[in-house]
Parts: sequence; C-alpha cells; structure tokens
Amino acid sequence: MVLSNDSIIHDDQPEIRSLSADVELPLSEEDRELLFAMHRYVKDSQDEELCEKNNLSPAVGIAAIQVGVPKKMIAVVVDADDGTTLEWALANPKIISRSKTMTCLPDGEGCLSVPEAHPGKIFRYDRVKVRGYDLLTDRNVVIQATGYAAIVLQHEIDHLSGILYYDHLNDPAPAAYTVVE
Ligand code: CO
Repeated sequence: MVLSNDSIIHDDQPEIRSLSADVELPLSEEDRELLFAMHRYVKDSQDEELCEKNNLSPAVGIAAIQVGVPKKMIAVVVDADDGTTLEWALANPKIISRSKTMTCLPDGEGCLSVPEAHPGKIFRYDRVKVRGYDLLTDRNVVIQATGYAAIVLQHEIDHLSGILYYDHLNDPAPAAYTVVE
C-alpha cells in the first residue's frame, strides 16, 4: 500500500470528525500495512524530491482517520532538539500524563487535512507521556516527549477524537507559556 495526497481526506469531509476506535493487538496484517504506509508517507514527505515524485505534502505526522480509517493509529517523524530523528508508528496512543506548563509554535500549526491556513497560537502541554504500541520497534512503549515532539503527538492524538488544530484557536491563553523555535 502506498499513500499519496490523493489518499488524504480534508476538513470539508465529515469523516475527519469521526471518533477513532481502539485497534486490536497484535495488529492485523491490514492494520500493519496501513500503519507502515502512514509512516512511509510522513518520512518520504520530508524529502523534497520524493514529495514531488510521489505527490506528497511535507508533514511531521499523520493519523489513520486522515486517510479515512477511523482507527487509533498515528505516525510521527520529527527532529529532536539534539538533531536526532524521533519516529513512531503507534497503535492506541494515549496521553498518560502531561505537564502543567504550556507551549506553542510561533507560527501556529498546519495539517494535511486542512488546506486553508488558520493562523494563531495553539497552546499545547510542553511535556507529555504517551503510551502505545510502536510498530517500528514492535514494542509497547512509553514516550516522554517535550517541545516540538510533544506538540506533534498532541496534534495527531487529537485527530483520534475528531479534533482539528484550529478548534483550539479560542482556547484561553495560559498565564505563561514557552514558544518552540
Ligand atoms: Co493534522
């Protein structure tokens, strides 16, 4: 299975608001194939040539519902603060704890399913602990993410509840927050 921009559903389609269901573990062959393909899309989308060749848009994460499958699966590929690459292909990701402190991106967020820009600060927890099954390492993992990686995980996990980033535009601003550069 290969995903491209033709596979992505947008926010003008009601399916994007679906609640995603838990995935059965061990993953079925079908679910494995989809989750690997989601990870491949995100990974390849960070290469300019592959983007053009394979009809991808630059991304750091994707949720299964964005290709019309309401199952709790997300893939994330982000650069960590120390220059290493953090990547996960998670089934049933769940935030099990979060910081009191908040953060945001200076220029707001974007999303493969949201063609129109919705500028504005989106406040997220600046540290989250996420539990799930990671297909890339074939393990149950507990991820402790901070900063950008934490923001991306929260964005993708929101998709599993049908939430899009711009739904947060009217959230009250926290008294204090950091900005991820
Ligand atoms: Co998104």
